[in-house]
Amino acid sequence: MPVIAIPKELATAERRIAIVPEVADKLEKLGAKIQIEKGLGQSAFLEDDAFNSASVVDDAASLYQAADVVLKVQPPTLDEIKQMKPGTLLIGALAPFQHLDVVAALKEANITALSMELIPRITRAQAMDILSSQATVAGYKAVLMAADIAPVFFPMLTTAAGTIRPSKVLIIGAGVAGLQAIATARRLGAIVEGYDVRSATKEQVESLGAKFVEMPFKAEGEGGYARPLTEEEKQQQQEVLAKHVAASQIVITTAAIPGRASPKIISKDMVEAMASGAVIIDLAAEGGGNCELSQPGETVNHNNVVIHAPLNVTSQMPTHASDMYSRNLYNLLALMVKDGELNLDWDDEILQGCVLTHEGEVKNAAVAEAMQNA
Ligand code: NAI
Repeated sequence: MPVIAIPKELATAERRIAIVPEVADKLEKLGAKIQIEKGLGQSAFLEDDAFNSASVVDDAASLYQAADVVLKVQPPTLDEIKQMKPGTLLIGALAPFQHLDVVAALKEANITALSMELIPRITRAQAMDILSSQATVAGYKAVLMAADIAPVFFPMLTTAAGTIRPSKVLIIGAGVAGLQAIATARRLGAIVEGYDVRSATKEQVESLGAKFVEMPFKAEGEGGYARPLTEEEKQQQQEVLAKHVAASQIVITTAAIPGRASPKIISKDMVEAMASGAVIIDLAAEGGGNCELSQPGETVNHNNVVIHAPLNVTSQMPTHASDMYSRNLYNLLALMVKDGELNLDWDDEILQGCVLTHEGEVKNAAVAEAMQNA
């Protein structure tokens, strides 16, 4: 019977947890034994006794010693890796390109590490897709952050004190986070525009009741993602977007290109053309940000335009972010745990896609290359 262990997250700003009681129960039904570290769920408002099917272990060291499988949200620290037994299966959002030292340590320690962000975005793996589930949380929360900072209402109001016009909101990047931001801003009653370089998003943006900002080019890349723009395209994009940015009270940016820094889309000049009291929420801050003036993790006031570039937004909604993350992990584990046995099918393209280290080797070619170049 495999022991699945869940230690407390050590990163101070991380409030999500890798397992919630509902998923612990389901894993137990698959024949696994669940052990959690004492106080695991506190950051997500869950007491130990909410985990009926889990045993509670006082310290992380004992937990790691018993573990066949370790579930995490953030990448482990080097000290945590030292406590894991060789051959342990580690599953988490391991952000390998940002933590090459952790990958090297996992390889040395002979840990089989699966990185959830590397799961291929194929139909069969949608229920395991943490990029989508967590982007859904971030897109929703970004709109609420904007509404909180903005000095205006989102909806139109007809009151005894006169009529209030609805706010204009522009969402740049209509992937999972952007579409959720559009839907949320619409629910709050704003007039919403959406823009993306991928032409497939036009229909999605419009289906949510927003207007699509048309551009004279499209930039579909590989695997359904965007490709970087040429200098000429960037110029065209700036010219068209400048008018829409200037006319918006709220701009939310979510544009990302996998494996690269976030494209700079909103220049200083564009910010300076916005009205006083306008708000930009830059959800691409983890990759450096979509606005030239964004300071990742900070809130900047430039000529009375507030540019908020939060990091790890999902952690600010730990209950539902953990529910979704934990269900994503469950759907992956359900491929491997059957009748109380742990079996990894290395012919499965999902495992091939997300394996980072196994049997003392780095298995992901792009990560191995990044390590060589580092
Ligand atoms: P992402 O977080 O990597 O990027 C966000 C958005 O920014 C994307 O829509 C991208 O096109 C856009 N973008 C990039 N550069 C831009 C620029 N210069 N200007 C404006 N927009 C720009 O994207 P996300 O949300 O992870 O999804 C990307 C793709 O993955 C989509 O095609 C989506 O349909 C696909 N997908 C597939 C899934 C599956 O089959 N399991 C699940 C979820 C998404």
